[in-house]
Amino acid sequence: MSLSSTKLLFFAGSAREASFNKRVARLGAQIAEANGLAATFADLGDYPMPLYDADLQALEGIPENALKFEALMKVHTGIFIASPEYNASITPLLKNTLDWVSRVRIEGEEPLAVFKSRVFALGSASPGGMGGLRGVNTTRTVLELGLGALVLPDQFAVPKAGEAFEANGHLKNRDQQENFKALIVKLARAAHVLHGP
Ligand SMILES: Cc1cc2nc3c(=O)[nH]c(=O)nc-3n(C[C@H](O)[C@H](O)[C@H](O)COP(=O)(O)O)c2cc1C
Repeated sequence: MSLSSTKLLFFAGSAREASFNKRVARLGAQIAEANGLAATFADLGDYPMPLYDADLQALEGIPENALKFEALMKVHTGIFIASPEYNASITPLLKNTLDWVSRVRIEGEEPLAVFKSRVFALGSASPGGMGGLRGVNTTRTVLELGLGALVLPDQFAVPKAGEAFEANGHLKNRDQQENFKALIVKLARAAHVLHGP
């Protein structure tokens, strides 16, 4: 299967400068490219949006950065999100981003088209022992039930993230990195099947 037309987007549900989840997303993009897949890393810190408020939307419309981020998602066919778990749930940054993007309406497109026509894969990193996987469940619910997205059943967690990375951004545990690579390749294949060549 030629995956030459497949483009993967990697981003994190944290904008923190030293975010472990941004490290996972960055590493994912590196692994994808090292395996011949076109990939982009995006930092949500570059797309600041106000807290979603329907009155604000009615008054000012969709923020420019939500439109930009929706357009960025659209030029990719597979999307990997690494997100921290905040109190066993999704981060406000990720939820707010998904909420604003879900309000974007493009003429001639059905609502939520950007979610319904892409394949997603999820991961998480945490200094804790569970790697933030409980938060992934919430993100999965939002994407699948709320936004109609296809989300791969496989997910990738980095527990004890403070000790997990080498200085070059790779994971110290080679098996863990191989598992991540396998998930990325699966995401690319699934995206290719959904979109065609
Ligand atoms: C409000 C808040 C709630 C948190 N709740 C959890 C949690 O439920 N489980 C967990 O493993 N870590 C939790 N953490 C710790 C985060 O995993 C940790 O801050 C992590 O480094 C955040 O991800 P980042 O490095 O990508 O920014 C929480 C942190 C914050 C600020």
